[in-house]
Amino acid sequence: MAKTLLVTGGAGFIGANFVHYWLAQYPKDRVIVLDALTYAGNLANLDSVSANEKLKFIRGNICDTQLVEKILVDEAVDTLVHFAAESHVDRSILGPDAFIETNILGTYSLLKAAKKVWLDGPAPVPHRFHHVSTDEVYGTLGPNDPAFTENTPYAPNSPYSASKAASDHLVRAYHHTYGLQVTTSNCSNNYGPFHFPEKLIPLVITNILHNKKLPVYGDGLQIRDWLYVEDHARGIDLVLQKGQVGENYNIGGHNEWANINIVKLIGKLLEQEFAADSRWAEKYPTAAAAIAGDTESLITFVKDRPGHDRRYAIDAAKTGRELGYKPQESFESGIRKTVRWYLENDAWWKGVMDGSYKDWVAKQYSHQ
Ligand code: NAD
Ligand code: DAU
Repeated sequence: MAKTLLVTGGAGFIGANFVHYWLAQYPKDRVIVLDALTYAGNLANLDSVSANEKLKFIRGNICDTQLVEKILVDEAVDTLVHFAAESHVDRSILGPDAFIETNILGTYSLLKAAKKVWLDGPAPVPHRFHHVSTDEVYGTLGPNDPAFTENTPYAPNSPYSASKAASDHLVRAYHHTYGLQVTTSNCSNNYGPFHFPEKLIPLVITNILHNKKLPVYGDGLQIRDWLYVEDHARGIDLVLQKGQVGENYNIGGHNEWANINIVKLIGKLLEQEFAADSRWAEKYPTAAAAIAGDTESLITFVKDRPGHDRRYAIDAAKTGRELGYKPQESFESGIRKTVRWYLENDAWWKGVMDGSYKDWVAKQYSHQ
């Protein structure tokens, strides 16, 4: 039976990739995107699917409980997939307020609306509330520690991860106390198209194209576990189709990299692209180090992020065993695809960085 999804944060990096994935995979389903279009949300991320009649965009804040209730009722939503969040750790250190508001109070607002519409009426409505969380709630690992499992105790270290952990607990409590049909997924670091250029991988790509320094925090030996974004969407899909209500599922690809090695790898890949195709030097004449094959000269070690988690690694064995989850993209092909996507889509990243694309696409968009 066709579903109607409410996707919060569907104009952000992972949410937009999820919307593209879902519309392609399930063309009969309706997808309603609720997004406040903060600095990180951009209708340009949904531009190529904006003419799809199964997609509707609503600009609004998840903290607006009445609006959420109205959408759940008016659109007869049966599945809520909750991506909306403040997501950047550095911003959470500079100013935690927005993280507390959106990640904790916003999730609470969605839970209240879902309970009212789906559980508190004359008869309960069949539903699913899927909450998208992160591996950062588990804290940090030493070099030889086993990877995080779903049973690893929560130990969040940044205002961002603490706010996500708080939201995970609220979701759990709404299931345990009220019987809301929830699932939660905890995923490792994503990369791919539409990744906002404040995060490490797109920042390094766009800085190289501008011949800017590549800031590496501390000694650069912190480890992250990278997953291609579409493999995250596939994992959520499996949790929605086959996951047990009330359970948490880890999503990841066993792909740990030290930051400094990721920075060097991206430099090498860009050097190869520039050497193989003269189009890129014409398009990016500022990219002197990439043209000269010397991107390592741009690497600059800078002051470390306060409280910087040393290592993340996700054990997705339960999701593999119980749901048949397996990432499809190898890191080698995914990172090459991503580098090429940024080379080809400079209109997107220049536009999101200066905000101009956001206004332009908002005017073009037909489903508001
Ligand atoms: P993002 O910052 O790119 O996008 C967040 C989206 O949420 C934006 O479109 C923004 O406009 C919207 N939003 C923010 N506040 C809102 C509010 N109050 N009301 C409505 N919309 C609001 O984030 P992302 O990287 O796509 O992450 C999406 C989700 O996945 C987050 O919950 C994040 O914690 C989680 N996650 C991210 C990663 C990662 O590597 N990026 C990994 C694991 C989990
Ligand atoms: O692990 C999942 C998390 O991954 C998500 O929950 C977060 O929403 C997402 O932003 C991401 O968090 P990180 O802090 O790991 O991502 P970021 O891209 O900010 O940084 C990756 C690593 O690179 C981290 O160790 C910090 C480092 N870094 C980052 C930037 C922006 C640098 O060394 N230099 C930089 O300029």
